[in-house]
Amino acid sequence: MYLFQRSEDLQNWLQTVRGHNRKIGFVPTMGALHAGHLSLIDQSAAANTFTVCSIFVNPTQFNDHTDLEKYPRTPARDIELLVNSGCDALFLPAVGEVYPEGLDTGVDVSLGQLAEVMEGAFRPGHFAGVMQVVHRLLQLVLPDRLYMGQKDFQQQAIIQEMIRQLELPVELVMADIVREADGLAMSSRNVRLSPEFRSKAPLIHEILSQIKQDSEERSVAEWKTWAHNQLEQAGFRPEYLEIVDGKTLQPVSSFKESKYIVACVAAWAGDVRLIDNVIVRG
Ligand code: PAJ
Repeated sequence: MYLFQRSEDLQNWLQTVRGHNRKIGFVPTMGALHAGHLSLIDQSAAANTFTVCSIFVNPTQFNDHTDLEKYPRTPARDIELLVNSGCDALFLPAVGEVYPEGLDTGVDVSLGQLAEVMEGAFRPGHFAGVMQVVHRLLQLVLPDRLYMGQKDFQQQAIIQEMIRQLELPVELVMADIVREADGLAMSSRNVRLSPEFRSKAPLIHEILSQIKQDSEERSVAEWKTWAHNQLEQAGFRPEYLEIVDGKTLQPVSSFKESKYIVACVAAWAGDVRLIDNVIVRG
């Protein structure tokens, strides 16, 4: 596996490998890699000639300074995992490589209501930062396919919209959520959970699974109240539990309202913010 810290070196290498009938898959990450990230690498490696992964803890998408500071950074372990995966090149840039002084890296996309709900409502500026970094990385790598996880459902929907509006020549592939054996969605933040919250954390997936399994048995409003109560009783602080249309991300009031319905949740487990979702229909 090649390791590039400078964008110019990455681009020079890409120039030598790019070619007719060769596909490049790209997996952007913020590191502290786990099996969820590696599943994206596997999917890319299976479908493309070359796979590029980036590890960059992007400051512009953190609206909470402590979250940025506390974000786990495990570069040596990440490199080891990637060497043993199907990754061909790792891009591990410093902030100045991604955002060189004097370069306008802003993205002119109006997301409208897509970014106003859920994560957008609770993390102001977050998606502008995500779009900025993904756009910049796409310009550097120019991949044929971009791999993103369903784990961050709203994120992939917003990047899909950016690709559409800017007519970027890349196909977005959404990968399934990889979970721990007890159902907890894998996340780099899980290592920060207290033992107490780690043992309670599978409840989040249990709640979502029950909504999916028995959706017809209660109304959308009843499910939301039920889920909030379950989370609060277990000591979580839910920020939102929304049942939305998977395309527009707008809340639905009935399960019959759309053919593509996703239940999404964000909840604090002590000082760790967890998100998860399930596709209820679609
Ligand atoms: P990060 O949280 O490191 O996630 C990188 C990619 O891995 C995202 O597409 C995310 O959805 C996916 N992922 C995370 N946990 C997963 C799981 N349990 N199963 C499957 N896929 C999972 O998301 C980001 O980084 C950043 O916002 C980024 C897109 C890199 C921009 O900075």
